[in-house]
Amino acid sequence: MDQTDIRHAPAADRNREPILAVLREHLPGRGRVLEVASGTGQHVVAFAAALPALSWQPSDPDPAQRASITARIRAAGLSNVAPPLDLDVGGPWPTLEADAVITANLLHVSPPETLPALCAGAAGVLAPGGILHVYGPFNRDGSFTSEGNARFDAALRTENPAWGIRDLEALVAAAAAEGLGLRTVVDMPANNLSVVFEWQPPAP
Ligand SMILES: C[S@@+](CC[C@H](N)C(=O)[O-])C[C@H]1O[C@@H](n2cnc3c(N)ncnc32)[C@H](O)[C@@H]1O
Repeated sequence: MDQTDIRHAPAADRNREPILAVLREHLPGRGRVLEVASGTGQHVVAFAAALPALSWQPSDPDPAQRASITARIRAAGLSNVAPPLDLDVGGPWPTLEADAVITANLLHVSPPETLPALCAGAAGVLAPGGILHVYGPFNRDGSFTSEGNARFDAALRTENPAWGIRDLEALVAAAAAEGLGLRTVVDMPANNLSVVFEWQPPAP
């Protein structure tokens, strides 16, 4: 594991600060944050440096991405980031308790089943009052929110017919079914959204 494992996604540099601004507002002051689909590790390293009182748990099912995350953690010298877990949203989730689950740019590059699986998995690990933050492009009221998103969706489906931009309403409904109440939807740059949920256990 060394510097040569480090991968770089230009988009993650662009959206890092806008996402961090939303996280600052909604994450608890202390506790553990599980990041799902951490990718290159650019986000988790930046967020962990900016919010050092939180402990961060990255994850990704792709071994090359996990190698990049590990190399970035080491290069940044951060002590509040755990080694990445091999977590596929559709598979078994680790046994851990998290105060927040965050993910960015996952739901449009995975099959539709990933959306309910994300909500169920997050509900399974979150503590009462815990936060689920989902960032990415979404359709609203069954329509693309921009021509750019329509073109992006067509390109995604050409690359993989199971991929595509999901409906915000589908996410909100799947989340509600798992006890994740919608806290807010924040318009983000480049026609993306931050969608923030709060989990509460079912009433006894
Ligand atoms: C477009 S990248 C986004 C990475 C990072 N979150 C970002 O915003 O830069 C999508 C990531 O999702 C991961 N991924 C794909 N399917 C997944 C699944 N079923 N469960 C968890 N991660 C998945 C991929 O390995 C990849 O690292």
